[in-house]
Amino acid sequence: MMEKLKLLYFLLGVIGPGGGTVLLVGLPNSASVMENQSAGTSIFSFSVSTNSTISSGFPYIINTSPLTKAFRIDYIGTSYNVALTGSPLLDFETTPNSFNLQIYVEDSTGATDLQILTVQLTNVNEPPMFLDNLANQDVSLYIIEGNSPGAIYQVLASDRESATNTLRYSLVPASAPFSINTGTISSTKVFDYETDPHSYSLIVTVTDPQGLSVNGSITVYITNINDETPYFTTTTLTYLIPEEQIPGTTVANITAVDPDADNFINTLLYSINTPTEYFTIDQLTGGIQIAKTIDREADPFRLHPNIVLEVMVKDRPSGGQANSTFITFIIQDINDNPPMCQQYAFRKLVPETETTGTLIIDLTNFCSDIDVDSPYNLFNFTGLSGLGSSERFQLSPSGSGKIVLIGNLDFEDPNNIAVGNEYSLTVAVQDIAAQYFKKYLYVYVKTSPVNEFPPVFNSSSYVFNISELSPATTKVGQVYATDKDYPYIGITYSIVAGGSTFGSSDIFWMDPNTGNLQLATKADYEITSKYIITVQAEDSESKFSTASVTVNILEANDEKPICVPNSYTLSIPVDQAIGTNIQNFKLTCTDRDSGPNSFRYFINSGNINNHFAFTPTSGSNITNLVLAVPFDYSSGYDTTWNYNLRVYITDDNIISASGGSKGVVQTGTVSLNIKVYIPGLTTIKTTTTPEVIYQSKTENSYSAVAWYIPFVITLGSVILLGLLGYLTYLFAKHCPCRSSPKPDKELLIKPAEKTKIKHDVFWEMTKINTVFDGEAQDPITGKIYEYNSKSGARRWKDTQLPVESEQILPQPAMNPNVLPTEKDQHMMPKGTPNKREKTPIGAENGGNQTNPSKPATPNRLQTANQTSPKLEPGKQSPIKRAHSPLSPRLSPKVAPKTPIGPT
Ligand SMILES: *[C@@H]1O[C@H](CO)[C@@H](O)[C@H](O)[C@H]1NC(C)=O
Ligand SMILES: *[C@@H]1O[C@H](CO)[C@@H](O)[C@H](O)[C@H]1NC(C)=O
Ligand SMILES: *[C@@H]1O[C@H](CO)[C@@H](O)[C@H](O)[C@H]1NC(C)=O
Repeated sequence: MMEKLKLLYFLLGVIGPGGGTVLLVGLPNSASVMENQSAGTSIFSFSVSTNSTISSGFPYIINTSPLTKAFRIDYIGTSYNVALTGSPLLDFETTPNSFNLQIYVEDSTGATDLQILTVQLTNVNEPPMFLDNLANQDVSLYIIEGNSPGAIYQVLASDRESATNTLRYSLVPASAPFSINTGTISSTKVFDYETDPHSYSLIVTVTDPQGLSVNGSITVYITNINDETPYFTTTTLTYLIPEEQIPGTTVANITAVDPDADNFINTLLYSINTPTEYFTIDQLTGGIQIAKTIDREADPFRLHPNIVLEVMVKDRPSGGQANSTFITFIIQDINDNPPMCQQYAFRKLVPETETTGTLIIDLTNFCSDIDVDSPYNLFNFTGLSGLGSSERFQLSPSGSGKIVLIGNLDFEDPNNIAVGNEYSLTVAVQDIAAQYFKKYLYVYVKTSPVNEFPPVFNSSSYVFNISELSPATTKVGQVYATDKDYPYIGITYSIVAGGSTFGSSDIFWMDPNTGNLQLATKADYEITSKYIITVQAEDSESKFSTASVTVNILEANDEKPICVPNSYTLSIPVDQAIGTNIQNFKLTCTDRDSGPNSFRYFINSGNINNHFAFTPTSGSNITNLVLAVPFDYSSGYDTTWNYNLRVYITDDNIISASGGSKGVVQTGTVSLNIKVYIPGLTTIKTTTTPEVIYQSKTENSYSAVAWYIPFVITLGSVILLGLLGYLTYLFAKHCPCRSSPKPDKELLIKPAEKTKIKHDVFWEMTKINTVFDGEAQDPITGKIYEYNSKSGARRWKDTQLPVESEQILPQPAMNPNVLPTEKDQHMMPKGTPNKREKTPIGAENGGNQTNPSKPATPNRLQTANQTSPKLEPGKQSPIKRAHSPLSPRLSPKVAPKTPIGPT
């Protein structure tokens, strides 16, 4: 074909117009090129010769045989190159191996040339090719761990130039546990995911006999399966945990690992196999938490503080591998309990004399702490406090529960504030470990009094004075004892010795409560003037002391004058001369506590017309009854023939005058019956009823006021009384007035305490039969006879003396009805000195109703006395009486009128 084209072109050129030439220079007939050459590969170069210019687009391949676009002509400078286009790629094994190329050229003149080039394709050896997936990509393989070794892949390869069975296979890296044999890759071991690499990268090489090779990349992955048991990674199997942790507290973290799990932790589940109410476990995290508070002190932990748990871990999915381990919890004590005591309040009674160092109470054994371990179960005692406690009580040794007395509890100590009360002590029992729990204990120490001291009198001896006038129950004085014991328990006073008279009943009585010494009965100075008694003060527990009490009985004018005769019946002739000592009658008086000069005599009643008088009226223990005023019946002046005189004899006692014992004037009484008769007529009326009635009246007064309380008042009163008495005395002595006789019913001295005076009136009626109450002298025989003034019975007087009929009652003092008053004194017969002998009667004789013409002559009087030779014993002699102040005053007036002396 090419040949014919070439020929054609040739012919056309030769015969073409213009006649110019164009030629393809150097172009051989054939050329060769290797298969599978890339585009641009030059096969052959040539040039074009022409006289003119080559027409555009020439030379070019106008035809190929066989037809292909695998060739082109490139213009490169001055030459042209036959080159491959690369497309299609000329492959020896697949395309024709020889191509005829018709190359045609034309110039501007129209000349043409045509040549045919035969291109021969040359065969080249090529590397093998993979026929499997390796031909296109890397291959991944998966092997499950644990599988047996064996073929895992078949490599397929071929070669264009060689037979397949001539190919050789190799695998790198050689260390990999794989082998290849004629394209078959096998594992050489059992893979473990957990221990082996999880993948292997292999390169498989196929080599042809010419040595060309191809590489393929294979990655082998080991596939994990759940073939492993989880295991615990927690190394701590014993945990010390404190008690009393609140629920929810994590006390242990249990960790486990699943070798299969590729460290995905949530593939594991935790649980506790041991039944327990105290713990739970977080099934995902393995944290063990408190589910219920554990009390170490409670059973069973008190004795068995260990808890063993079996903790299980399982991997997932369920049904997989499981494992378990034992975890031990040791419950540890904490100081969660304060010391507890059986009681918190204690009472102790301690005598006040308890000595320092005495153990008051030991609190130790009352308290305990249920915490188990030391030091949580240890405690001490602290903070002893309380008012006054620091000086008296101490924990000894410090911290112990022993409360020891270190001070005194003496009630007598004025600093002791708890006297009669108790010490309130507070002490804390406290843990010695944090949190130092404490409780308070209260100890009440009451101190009891001890009778330590006997009562002591405030004076070892007492001297009291008491008037013998003082009545029973009069307070003599008071003794006083104190007892240093506190509290004061009470003192009883008593008389233990003395105070009685001749063994008879006690004179004194002592108030056991007050110590007041009182008269139990009236004392009598004349019997015993001084008592020495022993008094005792005793406390309630028979501790006692004694003191001496001297009681001086002060003499007082407690004795009344006693005069003889006590009563008497006298007869007087109607014409008796004035001044005559009637029947020589004398009163002789004695007084046990008054001197002989202290008597005063006055006729209290019955002295009608003042016919009778005593002389002297005072200053002597003997006085004479005289006729002071003559009788005058004829004129009717006198009508009474029978006079019943009541004579009062008082004693002006020194003691009473000084007011030492509440000035008392004692009064004796004498009753006289005087009958006036007409001489010659001797008829004496007799009666058949020999009965005499005596009245004895005594009034008693005493002060109810105890002298010792208002002592000053009384003392003042006594002084006042004395002063008043003295004033009274002065007044009575100087008062010139006269008044008609009145019954002495008024009080001369009104005591200051009159409103407080109590009057007791005693009347005594005594009937006496045939009492000879009077004495008279027989005018004929001169003998003395006795007679009954009422009945007129007579008898000769023998040695028998008149019996005092007045009963003296114990309280005669201050009898206002007995005391002479001013009026009493005025009532005295005229010519009678008011007091003693100092005031002559004549000085007062002027203006009174008494008849001044009736004085007795001293001679007469003296005669009368002298004519009475038989004087009664003890009566004053007439001579003595002549010295009586009355006598000189009376004598001049009496003398002419005394013709009728009856003596
Ligand atoms: C094939 O792999 C081997 C080993 O890795 C290497 O030396 C060689 O050059 C590779 N050949 C080709 C064509 O890549
Ligand atoms: C347990 O683990 C938790 C969380 O990691 C941590 O807060 C806690 O302190 C741990 N407890 C113990 C007892 O290890
Ligand atoms: C009367 O007093 C005198 C002293 O004046 C005395 O000697 C005489 O004994 C007293 N008589 C009586 C009875 O007491």
